[in-house]
Amino acid sequence: MKLRAVKGTFDILPEDQRLRRHVLSTAERVLEHAGVLELTPPIFEHTEVFTKSVGASSDLVVQHEMYTFTDRGERSLTLRPEFTAGVLRAYIENGLIVWPTPVKLWSYGPIFRAENPQRGRFRQFHQVNCEFLGLDTPLLDAEAIALLYTVLSACGLEGLTVRLGSVGDPEDAAAYNAYLRRELGARQSELSETSRERLRLNPMRVLDSKDAGDQAVIATLKRPLDFLNPDARAHFEGVQAFLTTWGIPFEVDDSIVRGLDYYRRTAFEIHAAGIGAQSALCGGGRYDGLVAALGGPETPGVGWAFGLERVLDALREAGVRAPEAARPALFLVPMDDEAVAEVAALAFRLRQNLTVLHAYAKRNLGKGFKEAERAGARFAGLRGARERERGVYALKDLATGEQLELPEGELAGFLHERLERPLASSL
Ligand code: HAM
Repeated sequence: MKLRAVKGTFDILPEDQRLRRHVLSTAERVLEHAGVLELTPPIFEHTEVFTKSVGASSDLVVQHEMYTFTDRGERSLTLRPEFTAGVLRAYIENGLIVWPTPVKLWSYGPIFRAENPQRGRFRQFHQVNCEFLGLDTPLLDAEAIALLYTVLSACGLEGLTVRLGSVGDPEDAAAYNAYLRRELGARQSELSETSRERLRLNPMRVLDSKDAGDQAVIATLKRPLDFLNPDARAHFEGVQAFLTTWGIPFEVDDSIVRGLDYYRRTAFEIHAAGIGAQSALCGGGRYDGLVAALGGPETPGVGWAFGLERVLDALREAGVRAPEAARPALFLVPMDDEAVAEVAALAFRLRQNLTVLHAYAKRNLGKGFKEAERAGARFAGLRGARERERGVYALKDLATGEQLELPEGELAGFLHERLERPLASSL
């Protein structure tokens, strides 16, 4: 039997790394400039960290999407299906609760969900996640959304629009769910099987259905926004006012529903065209009450996560390329057996601040140059009996064809000087 990666997982090959790093370094720069600090929780937690937070009617629970196992100590553990629960557990456990508010935290790493794989939907994927804790002002929601938008724009995605909604306070959501139970309960025969199941567990999720029959029914219904209490409405309007002032493009989505149960008030997503059915690049919202549900003091919070693979997919669709990799400065070619160890030793010394590669066996001139070119090196450095005798290396500038000889001790200085100057002026 051929060994293969598990369905829904993938290898991240060297050629994929640069665009990933571009997104990650952009996120890190934008977030750290806004005082968001990095927190990395463990990849697995006690299962109750998640069951206490994501909600009994979330897809994670209902559709058994969590990778849960029992360890040798008979503990039930779960590979994280999202960051929020673990970050909040860490926030409570490590006493971050006493830090000046807002406490702004970001995380990056793998996430595990036992979903049916398709384009943009994997069983191991990666999220960049942000949590902003300790304040209930709409300013914090708006800052979170604006930072998310700035990260994605700075990565190179254009024309994005935030879909912004509000699921209200728990009593608003309860009133809306009661309304849906009443309205949809009477029209169950018109609904798909999934929607009938959702109606039983979390009626609001019916609004998420893409089924045409369901959509026809949904079109006749009132929306969650129609049920907002005056405070929740004012909060929602506050978020919009900040985003408008800052020029963050958004549209009010009156039926935004998130797949996790902990959201209150603000809920948002950003979608991209051209990446298939799984078009949500990111999602988030406010979750006042969640810290308390995990055993901490009553603490408001708002956050988001974007799926790295979906953002990469959208970037590739948009033709955004990773910044060019730095080329190796030097490729050393040993021209006899003795030179193999010599070039390896020189490479080690020069690598302190330069990228230096070498061949691992003696090469003739033609093959040596070819290898140096294939490696993308700027200079080839040759070492044979003639060079050894005179204590030098023969250098060829592969960009200009210029050839020269340099004593070993002068190589580092020469390379630095040449590589710092633009090509035209080094001619
Ligand atoms: P979520 O909407 O479940 O939210 O996931 C956020 C993002 O992760 C999605 O928009 C999508 O880009 C990506 N994603 C989700 N599932 C998959 C999958 N199977 N394969 C690939 N990408 C996927 C959360 O996880 C919340 N914890 C976000 C949050 C943070 N809310 C408040 N704070």
